[in-house]
Order: sequence, then C-alpha cells, then structure tokens
Amino acid sequence: MHKTITSLIFALASALLAASCDDGPVDETAAYSQEGHSVRLTATLSGLHTWDGSLYVALAAFNDESDYAITSRRISGTDGTVDVTLSGVTEEATRVELCVLNNLRQRVATFATLEGDALLSGEETTLFDAGTRSVSMLSAVQTSVFNTTCTGCHGGNGGAAAGLFLTDGRSHEALVGKPSKKVADGTLVKAGDAEGSVLYQTLTTSLSKGWHYDHTAEVIDQRRRSLIQAWIDGGAEE
Ligand code: HEC
Repeated sequence: MHKTITSLIFALASALLAASCDDGPVDETAAYSQEGHSVRLTATLSGLHTWDGSLYVALAAFNDESDYAITSRRISGTDGTVDVTLSGVTEEATRVELCVLNNLRQRVATFATLEGDALLSGEETTLFDAGTRSVSMLSAVQTSVFNTTCTGCHGGNGGAAAGLFLTDGRSHEALVGKPSKKVADGTLVKAGDAEGSVLYQTLTTSLSKGWHYDHTAEVIDQRRRSLIQAWIDGGAEE
C-alpha cells in the first residue's frame, strides 16, 4: 500500500519533470514514457556529421536480454559539446549507452556505457559523462568489428596477417584506397563502393575460402555487415 503511493508520487513527479525538460539541439525518436528516471549525457563528440541514413548515434536504455532499445533519443548535429537528457528510464533498464542504433532501434555499436550502481544512483537524474570521443562511422566499425574480431591477427599483437593493420588509429590508412595483396587489381576499401571493396567481399562472400585463413569463420552478423557497408558507401570517412 505504502509502496504504491510512493511510486505514484514518483511517477507524477517524473511526469512533471519530463514535461518541463529542455529539449536541446536533438531530434526525438521515442515518445517519452512518463515513468522512470532520467539520464543526462554530457560529452564532447566528434564524427557525428559522418552519420546520415538509417543508422544514427543515440543515447539509449537497454536491458540485458535484448539488443532493442527500451527508450532512446537521437543525437545529431555538428561536432562539439553535447548535453542530452533521456527520460523514461524505467527499472527494467540495466544499462544506458552512447551507441549506434538502426531503424529498428537495435544496437549496432556501443561507444560508452553507464550501468550498475552508477546507473542506479537513486537520483532523479543520473549524470553520464562520456568524455571526449569520436563517434564516427569508422569508430563504430573499429569498436564493434575490428577490435572485437580482427585485431587478434591483424596488428593487435605486433604482427599483422597480410601486413594489414586493423588496429585503432591505423585501420583507415591501411584500408582506404590501398591495393589488396590477395586479389589482383583489388582495392581493400574503395570509398563509395562497398561491393567493390575487398574488405567487404572478405566478410560477406566466400572470397577467402582458398586463402591461408578462411574468413567466413569470422561470423559478422547482418547489423555489422550493414554498418561496414554504410561506412564504405558513405565515403569511408575517417
Ligand atoms: C585467425 C587470424 C585472422 C583473423 C581473426 C582475421 N584475419 Fe584477415 N587475414 C588473415 C590471414 C592469415 C590473411 C592472409 C591470407 C593469405 O595470405 O592467404 C588475412 C587476410 C585478410 C584480408 C586480405 C588482405 C589483402 O591485402 O588482400 C582482409 C581484407 C582481411 N584479412 C580482413 C579481416 C577482417 C576484417 C577480419 C575481422 C573481421 C579479419 N581479417 C580477421 C588472418 C586473420
């Protein structure tokens, strides 16, 4: 009984708070739920301008069971200081991320995470300082594909298979406009043409079946394939 009244008061208070919230320089993608608390992200971001189309940078709440955001808010605009508040973060949420979502609001890449005690601060608004970081398309490819699946062989331990360094800070220079060692006349990344790029072909076709290492063993899910495709087709910016 007591609990019900408390949560009712809390719901009313958060509804009032949500209604008076400053919208800031962002687009909204989700209707606000009138329950839950808020998470306020502050960060200095670069690379925001590289996104356009069905993938976008967002502040989003998730639970551990699903890759689909419970609630989210798009972050767009020019590079620089960002101050965005996500409200309606209910108890169901176990993490809030600065991330990339697709048009189904499914997580594609994660740049920074607020979870555990830091998320459940007990305050009505939890602060999430994501520092200074790049949220470019390449940074998304780097964190969600290269760092997790490729650098073990391609540069992470010093040596790089096929002389190809896919490590942070080196991958762009190693790939874009560079000739392939395995495919005669092939280019690793042809800006604007994913299908014509050896990198993309390596991950999406049986091209590497006869190589010393068959890359079809590196399971890259559809979301990450689409991310790489969007990065290359969008001009393979740094
Ligand atoms: C287990 C080790 C290993 C992993 C993991 C691995 N590679 Fe490779 N990769 C190789 C080897 C070995 C070659 C050279 C094959 C040959 O010479 O026949 C190669 C070659 C390549 C080439 C061709 C380079 C060229 O100049 O033509 C590309 C592109 C490539 N890898 C991309 C990737 C990407 C992207 C990932 C992660 C999704 C990845 N690799 C993960 C071992 C690996």
